[in-house]
Amino acid sequence: MKSRKNLVFIGMMGSGKSSIGSIVSKKLNLNFFDIDQLIENDQKMKISKIFEIKGEDAFRDIEKKITLNILKNKIGVIALGGGAFITRAIKNEILESHLSFWLNWNIDTLVKRIKNSKKRPLAVNSTKNELIKIIKKRSVIYSKALYKIDCENFTKQQIAKKIIDIYEAN
Ligand code: S3P
Repeated sequence: MKSRKNLVFIGMMGSGKSSIGSIVSKKLNLNFFDIDQLIENDQKMKISKIFEIKGEDAFRDIEKKITLNILKNKIGVIALGGGAFITRAIKNEILESHLSFWLNWNIDTLVKRIKNSKKRPLAVNSTKNELIKIIKKRSVIYSKALYKIDCENFTKQQIAKKIIDIYEAN
């Protein structure tokens, strides 16, 4: 392990944080933490159910607690949920102490991928125009990540390689 910093994957729903994060963790021989998965394990409920039963505000509180706990106590590759970096305490911790990678795609690509995704309550409950608005608004915040990784037209393996090259050079 080269550094004591986590590699944190940031970006919209459908940007490949979990799949590319998992590839990178295997290649670097690091532990992989998928925050959405950890939330579901902790709550013994799918994310869509948590939104339905407890609401988004409660989900964000759970997300904040679990994400900060992993960031502060573990070392490895972390795939955040798409909205986590918008929470100030999470963003500040990441920018102060970790390596962050924003997986950036064209808006059209993201909308095509997430529209009608049943496991994503925000996508199900938003129109195409609302999703475009969310992507544009969030991109301003995602852009604060240390590294912006342009993903359009690259394979997952190629994207993983870009990230590993940056990490090795750190
Ligand atoms: C969300 C993204 C989801 C999940 C939840 C809310 C968001 O994670 O945390 O549905 O606000 O963008 P993925 O980005 O892994 O889909």
